[in-house]
Amino acid sequence: MAEVIFNKLEKVYSNGFKAVHGIDLKIADGEFMVIVGPSGCAKSTTLRMLAGLETISGGEVKIGEKVVNNLAPKERGIAMVFQNYALYPHMTVRENLAFGLKLSKLPKEQIARQVDEAAKILELDELLDRLPRQLSGGQAQRVAVGRAIVKKPDVFLFDEPLSNLDAKLRASMRIRISDLHKQLKQSGKPATTVYVTHDQTEAMTMGDRICVMKLGHIMQVDTPDNLYHFPKNMFVAGFIGAPEMNIKPGKVVEKAGRLFVTVGNDTLALTDRQQEKLAGYVGQDVFFGVRPEYVCVSDVPYAEACGAGELVRVENMGHEFFVYLKVADFELTCRIPSDEAKPMIAKGLNRKVYFKFDMNKCHIFDAKTEQNISL
Ligand SMILES: Nc1ncnc2c1ncn2[C@@H]1O[C@H](COP(=O)(O)OP(=O)(O)OP(=O)(O)O)[C@@H](O)[C@H]1O
Ligand SMILES: [Mg+2]
Repeated sequence: MAEVIFNKLEKVYSNGFKAVHGIDLKIADGEFMVIVGPSGCAKSTTLRMLAGLETISGGEVKIGEKVVNNLAPKERGIAMVFQNYALYPHMTVRENLAFGLKLSKLPKEQIARQVDEAAKILELDELLDRLPRQLSGGQAQRVAVGRAIVKKPDVFLFDEPLSNLDAKLRASMRIRISDLHKQLKQSGKPATTVYVTHDQTEAMTMGDRICVMKLGHIMQVDTPDNLYHFPKNMFVAGFIGAPEMNIKPGKVVEKAGRLFVTVGNDTLALTDRQQEKLAGYVGQDVFFGVRPEYVCVSDVPYAEACGAGELVRVENMGHEFFVYLKVADFELTCRIPSDEAKPMIAKGLNRKVYFKFDMNKCHIFDAKTEQNISL
């Protein structure tokens, strides 16, 4: 059993800067948890406290049943892979893999067995006698992951392990690490994994759950699907998803017993569910959010109420287009399938088009607290 628990975990650096503000997080045994957030939000600080590489200023870290606050890194049953995976340049791949095990004075045969096992899992068999300088970036990163696997840790820690690789290699390593996690789980030896990244594609595709951080606070912990469709606050809504969710200031108004949100020059009718949720917000400022794929665009007005804007820019993504409309004093991003977008774009830019939102998929945020009040 190696669940990982943070209780009111805090970090204050020696210069007095508080980097982590009493966070609570429970990572289940065998779970793949991704910690994601913008630069400086304290992802690495948090991971390093878990690893024992940084002192803990308040609260506690538990691995399994044990509080590990005062345990040295090597006593915590963890293995860590960093962005700069620095292999020992004068050692072969085999020696690099075996190095940590030799230090822990395991018998020779066991070391050889564990190295062979890891090499097989990561397809390093053919590379065992090479030196690091004879490896590609992806191969070297696989060796770095191998060095972590041979230790058979209870908990794997990754800090942006793929950010030095090019896009294609990143995609294939992403799958490899996910597969490795599944493989260990199926073999009955699940390894709890904490994976830090600022790349939301990695977060969305790899995590069983994702923990979104901002300035040393946790903003939401949830499955990728829930984070995307039910963001608890404006920060998560804006951070997860590319292109970003459209988020615009608005106001809740009442007309003839029904509630609407005014955004720019448009007055949007709220769904029955949103009416209920927003009953107490009449007259108040809010933010209105809609993901680009829930905006429809057309050359001709829709039968139902719709808005109008100027088609100002398009980006061809191949299978779809990102279409930008200037509406009142803001810009609206829309995601349109290629077949639909092409005839419209063929008629040229800088002309009037019409749009409507899938209101069931829209979000409304309290302007002051930035909490999602439409969930
Ligand atoms: N030794 C230190 N002393 C003082 N402040 C520090 C120290 N190390 C980090 N910080 C600050 O703590 C905050 C969190 O840093 P951290 O490296 O954990 O962020 P991060 O989320 O990993 O960022 P990135 O995505 O850039 O790696 C930052 O504001 C950083 O400047
Ligand atoms: Mg970092």
